[in-house]
Amino acid sequence: MEYKLVLDNISKVFGDGDTSVKVLDHVSLHVKAGEFVALVGPSGSGKSTFLSIAGALLSPSSGRIILGGEEINDLSPKQMNRIRMEKIGFIFQSSNLIPYLTVRDQLLLIPELAGTLNEKAEKRADDLLKRLGLAHRKNNYPESLSGGERQRVAIARAWMNDPEIILADEPTASLDSERGRAVVQMLADEVKLRDKAAIMVTHDRRMLDLCDRVVFIEDGKLLEQTKRMSL
Ligand SMILES: Nc1ncnc2c1ncn2[C@@H]1O[C@H](COP(=O)(O)OP(=O)(O)OP(=O)(O)O)[C@@H](O)[C@H]1O
Ligand SMILES: [Mg+2]
Repeated sequence: MEYKLVLDNISKVFGDGDTSVKVLDHVSLHVKAGEFVALVGPSGSGKSTFLSIAGALLSPSSGRIILGGEEINDLSPKQMNRIRMEKIGFIFQSSNLIPYLTVRDQLLLIPELAGTLNEKAEKRADDLLKRLGLAHRKNNYPESLSGGERQRVAIARAWMNDPEIILADEPTASLDSERGRAVVQMLADEVKLRDKAAIMVTHDRRMLDLCDRVVFIEDGKLLEQTKRMSL
């Protein structure tokens, strides 16, 4: 069985002593190639923390993370950067765009950092912008975009390096339901057609039918499925 992403017995404690908070309490999740997992739970339950750990942005207090067969726990920061750049596409809860870059340049920054900026990368950027309905905004700066447009730029950017693993933190939060669904459908298609793995945090239960599995997080624990119908 090929797992693209394994989180094994992960705990995360913020702070220390009296003020410490245990956000994740020995949680495990295995995501296969071609699998699209939804992560749901109340505000403050640790969803973003979990996603950051899955994407090698944040270290767990204990536990192991295996990305595409490679254990990343003991890697140097430089090696972690490489893994993030090559394997992971992030869509953050806030769109995290760079204020002084145009929409198109936000996308081109990814291949530029990886040393692969060429005509093909430019074509990919233009195609993605078209696919996400942003072609007419490609020379705009983030400040002149709506919240939903910014979110779509962040999604296009996450696609630029053709990542094996897609981690999306409420990617539809500022989109209308039609566009939100189109975006999640695009995620689902990418995962299925190209055997990728994805985890999506969402509060929108209307999106759950597009996912293969729903995982709940509460009180530091993960619970699989079953509650799906009663959400
Ligand atoms: N760097 C940090 N230092 C201390 N506490 C933190 C830190 N980051 C997150 N927390 C705490 O961990 C808990 C989980 O936060 P997290 O952002 O993962 O929640 P979430 O499930 O994503 O919530 P939301 O749905 O509101 O985005 C919260 O109580 C938060 O205050
Ligand atoms: Mg969050």
